[in-house]
Formats: sequence, C-alpha cells, structure tokens
Amino acid sequence: MKEITTVTVIGAGDMGHGIAQAALLGGLTVHLYDTADESLQRGVGKINDSLEILHRKGKIQDEEMKRCKANLHPTLDFREAVTRSPFIFEAVPEILELKQRLYRDMEAIVSKDTIFASNTSNMRITEIAKNLQHKDRVVGAHFFNPVVLMKLVEVIRGDETSDETMQVAYDLCLKMKKTPVRVEKDSPSFIVNRVNAPVRVLLGGIVDKEIAKPEEIDALMKFNGEPMGHFELSDYVGLDVLYDSGQYRQQVLHADYAPYEKLAEKVKRGDLGKKTGKGFYDWADGRPTIDVNKRTDKLKMSDIDLVKLNEAAKLIEEGVATPADIDLAMISGTGDKVGPIEKHQGINVDDAIRRLELLAERLDKEVLQPANILTDKPEAVFVLEGQR
Ligand SMILES: NC(=O)c1ccc[n+]([C@@H]2O[C@H](COP(=O)([O-])OP(=O)(O)OC[C@H]3O[C@@H](n4cnc5c(N)ncnc54)[C@H](O)[C@@H]3O)[C@@H](O)[C@H]2O)c1
Repeated sequence: MKEITTVTVIGAGDMGHGIAQAALLGGLTVHLYDTADESLQRGVGKINDSLEILHRKGKIQDEEMKRCKANLHPTLDFREAVTRSPFIFEAVPEILELKQRLYRDMEAIVSKDTIFASNTSNMRITEIAKNLQHKDRVVGAHFFNPVVLMKLVEVIRGDETSDETMQVAYDLCLKMKKTPVRVEKDSPSFIVNRVNAPVRVLLGGIVDKEIAKPEEIDALMKFNGEPMGHFELSDYVGLDVLYDSGQYRQQVLHADYAPYEKLAEKVKRGDLGKKTGKGFYDWADGRPTIDVNKRTDKLKMSDIDLVKLNEAAKLIEEGVATPADIDLAMISGTGDKVGPIEKHQGINVDDAIRRLELLAERLDKEVLQPANILTDKPEAVFVLEGQR
C-alpha cells in the first residue's frame, strides 16, 4: 500500500482551500490548483490567515506554521498540478459535466495508479468516473464545512472503486487528522445528509399540515438542548440550497423528498433565509429569539430521533454503512452527542415500528415507514457494543 506524502487539490474555493489546509497540517506537501487566479489567491490567503489564527491560539507552534506555509505550492498550471502527486482531491463546483471533463483531462496525463478523490456532496462517484479507463482509482472523500473544524470525512466506494483505493483514501484522511468513515455503496447523500433528510420530510409535513408552526417546533428542539431549531438552521443554511437538495433527492431517492410547500413558497418569494434577511424568521436584527415556552405538544423530540434511527436502519439494510460508522459519522459530522443507534439501544422495537407507522400515516409520507430490517432483523441494527 503506497504511503502518500504529497497531494494535489483541484479547486481553491470554500472546500478546496480547507482540504489543502488539513493536508498541510497532516504534514503533507500540497499542490493547490485553480483555473481562476483570483480564487487561487483568495484560497491561499484564507489558508495563511487560518494558520496564523491557529498559531496565535497556541494550537500550532512556529515550526509547524513555517513548515505548512513552505509545503503549499499554489499553481495555475494544470499539468504541473496533477502530475506531481499520487493523490488528487477534487473540489470544483457541483456540475457533473465539469467534473467528468476534468477527470478525463487528468487521466490523459497522469500515471495509471494516481488516485482521484471527489468532494462531491451528492453525485454518484460511479457517474463521475464513468468515462475513465481506470475507474478503480476513483473514490469519494466528502469533507464537511468548515473543513478546518469538522472532523468527518465520508470515504465513498463507487461501483468500481478498488479496495486499495478505499484504503489509501481512508489512511490519508487519518493522516490529515480527520475522522474517516466508510460508505460502502455509492448511494445518494451518503450517511449524514441521508440520515437527516427524512427529518425535513417530517417537520416540513407538520408545518404544511399546520399541525404546528416552525417557531413552535424550534422551541421544542431548543428546549431539548439543540443549539439551533430546525427552521432557524434552515434559514441559516439558505432555503434555496435546501430547495435544490430536496429536488435532487426527489429524483434519486423518493418523491416524498420534494421540497415541502411552505419551503417552496418562501423560495418563490425570494425569502431565502439569513442571506436575504428573511426566511422562516426575520433576520434584520440578527439571530431570531425563540421562546421555549411556546413549544409544540403535537410532536415529541423522540419522534425526530426515531426518524433518524429509521433512516440509519435503511442504510444498514442497503449495505451502505455499518452501525458503528453511522454513529461515528453523525457524531463527528453534526452536533449530535450520541449516534442514532447508540441512542436507541434497548428500545422496544415493536413500539418504535408502530410509532413510525403512525407518523407515516398521519403525514402521508411513505419514506417515514419503518425500515424492513427493524421487523426482520433488528439485531443487525442494534449491534452490541463489543461487536461493533
Ligand atoms: N460548500 C460546502 O458546504 C460543501 C460541503 C461539502 C461538499 N461540497 C462540494 O465541494 C465541491 C466544491 O464546493 P465549494 O463550496 O468549495 O465551491 P466553490 O465555488 O467555493 O469553489 C470551487 C472552486 O473551483 C474552481 N474551479 C472551477 N472550475 C475549475 C476547474 N475546471 N479546475 C480547477 N478549479 C476550478 C473555482 O474557481 C472555485 O475556486 C462541490 O462539489 C460541492 O458540492 C461543498
């Protein structure tokens, strides 16, 4: 198995500069490439600023900062960038044709064992690698934003990714001081985004049916210790972004993931959340105040948890990831303190199934129906600690 000491990062934007910085902090030499000089300079500037902050906070010493800066090689020369390292992280915009063209151009000039790792949020790795001669060398390496703070990397196996490519990518993420988890099937939305997706269906459905208001649901979540309510967080992320991901999942996963009505209305009106000053909340005077005394009693916090467990069970059933990796991903990729499997150890599974069926019927959403594995083989979900 080859030991990687040099990597190339293609795209110096939000994610690319963060991946480059993580590689530098992991002791690697980094060639950072972008097609736009301005983006490249901005990316380098952000890396330097962030290193200075880490240094000031005492998280890295003089020597390490100097080494990181000396090991960063920004370039606008494509050939130079891609031929100088055995491992290439790709972080260009989420446009399939753009990625496919880039991989074809890279394959034409690199050696046949150079590994390509895509930071795609949603696309199938198999699809990105479709036109290549050596598809076994393409893998997903899905980092979370901001990369410098977020530990998780979902390492995704495409249909033709080799074991060696998976292992090299996994080991490299460890070297970069990240927490990799294995996504063993090229399944849309991978782990974290997939486990969270039906929560939007549940809460969007409740709001659309006017069972509870967004601020009442957020009050319930904050009362239960969540740092942000679901709708506050939606405003923060951008309602247009959630609208697009809903449309994407509607096509590739299930029709129930279509953007819910209240979300679609806001996007149509141009109320996109924090960035436009208005979404589910008014952000003109800063972060909204949520009164926990106005929390809804039409929904339980445990309903939200159960929906996450159910989706985690579907991932296990589909062979996408192990229970241990799902829990690890949810802890290191979100604010969750306990993973969905661990949280539900010892529950009454029949009761959980019945509650999920009720939620699905009440909201008329098939995706909330209990996973078959909860009935057929629950022991494969609730794996005992020692066996994980
Ligand atoms: N932003 C996030 O929160 C986030 C999280 C996880 C994954 N992702 C994924 O990471 C990837 C990059 O997203 P981002 O947010 O960093 O985008 P971004 O727009 O901030 O950066 C993309 C960079 O790629 C450059 N670029 C465009 N075409 C190029 C090419 N042919 N060769 C080299 N560079 C090129 C652009 O100049 C830009 O600097 C996307 O696939 C995205 O889905 C994003």
